[in-house]
Amino acid sequence: MKPKNKNKSTNSRWGGRYTSGPAEIMQEINASINFDKRLFEQDIEGSIAHCEMLVEQKILASTDGNAIIKGLKTIKSEIENESFQFSETLEDIHMNIEARLEEIIGEPAGRLHTARSRNDQVATDLRLWVRDSIDQLDSELRNLQESLIDRADTFYDLLMPGFTHLQTAQPITMGHHLLAYVEMFGRDRGRFADCRKRLNESPLGSGALAGTSYPIDRKHTARNLGFDRPMANSLDAVSDRDFAIEFLSVAAITMVHLSRLSEEIVLWCSDGFCFITLSDAFTTGSSMMPQKRNPDAAELSRAKAGRVFGNLLSLLTVMKGLPLAYSKDMQEDKEPVFDTADSLFLALGAMKGLVEDFVPNSESMLIAAKKGYPTATDLADWLVSVAGLPFREAHRITGEIVKEAEKRNISLEELPIEDMQKIDSSITHDALSVLSIENAVTSRASEGGTAPIKVKEAVLSARKRFLEK
Ligand code: ARG
Repeated sequence: MKPKNKNKSTNSRWGGRYTSGPAEIMQEINASINFDKRLFEQDIEGSIAHCEMLVEQKILASTDGNAIIKGLKTIKSEIENESFQFSETLEDIHMNIEARLEEIIGEPAGRLHTARSRNDQVATDLRLWVRDSIDQLDSELRNLQESLIDRADTFYDLLMPGFTHLQTAQPITMGHHLLAYVEMFGRDRGRFADCRKRLNESPLGSGALAGTSYPIDRKHTARNLGFDRPMANSLDAVSDRDFAIEFLSVAAITMVHLSRLSEEIVLWCSDGFCFITLSDAFTTGSSMMPQKRNPDAAELSRAKAGRVFGNLLSLLTVMKGLPLAYSKDMQEDKEPVFDTADSLFLALGAMKGLVEDFVPNSESMLIAAKKGYPTATDLADWLVSVAGLPFREAHRITGEIVKEAEKRNISLEELPIEDMQKIDSSITHDALSVLSIENAVTSRASEGGTAPIKVKEAVLSARKRFLEK
């Protein structure tokens, strides 16, 4: 079957040697305008910088340059106020803008693309877009850290069980638990900053792949676009997307952290835990079960991790094995990047809301913290530091005491001292003081520990390190 020709006319931007237009399906698979229209601001910014450089280098007359820049600014406002007509026939954002420029200013529009290819153009646009997103994500991450720190400050001494293997391990303070995430998000911000530093070089002026014979000034455009320097190799500049992959990797790690916090919120507000309550603003009802309050926002933030990991794998796979330099495969770089940024913005916003919204239930947390002999380590530590036993021996003795309490279904505090002394005679009344949850928490005052006094210090340090910059 012969493919249908939708367009008789060839593409006005590159169709010089063509006699007929593309098949319908060719146009459909080729066009990226539906998604790359999101690059319009960066595309126009890049074009203005390129145009100014061409004028500076006397490659373009300044009258033409002025007309081009004025036209580009008009187009920017047309797109912003949604009066711009995007056309699939014109493939992508670059050619949509150039074609409109020609409609507005006529002949000089055709001079803008001198010493430039869409290959260096799109590489520049996407770098600028990712850079902008990193800056916005950094401030979202900072805002989330601020909410976590504020709540940690409020709940600096609020007792809750700390878990390993999701089994009660040792009591901790809620402030300490929340600050753990502040550290994770701090490292995520550091990774985004590293990624930003590495991507901040300009591909513009690399041409299609080999550079250009025009006397361009790449440092000029790099500087104007806020890049640190021009990229050193034109082949690399037009054909690598490692900066996008790195962005997706950092986003994936951030999503791991967000999904863990999401999961804790889901657990904490479940009937089994009852550690926190979420307000109506952050739960949804069930259409069948009237009693339900579901933590959908937390579940969806947890689930967004799936899309982001998928996006990373998809771009890795697109880029794998591509020979130098540009291949159209690379057009597939944008959707994973856009979707990742969108997902991350949503998840970060929702998480900040959830963190500010929840109300802790101190009673259920205290009851839970007391289950499972959480101060057994403290008794073992007492046997070491006061009675002078080796830790392994202290561990064995405490294990026997726990077994005894378990047999009688009572807590360590409730076990009569005489019974403890039957197991080890060195235990005195002094040992009982270490068996309370409160003591277990206040005594863990080592650097980075959970003691309320340490949490207060950690709040101050976190404010200084993460918020005062
Ligand atoms: N829309 C294309 C992309 O996103 C622009 C570059 C096209 N270059 C080319 N030689 N066909 O990759």
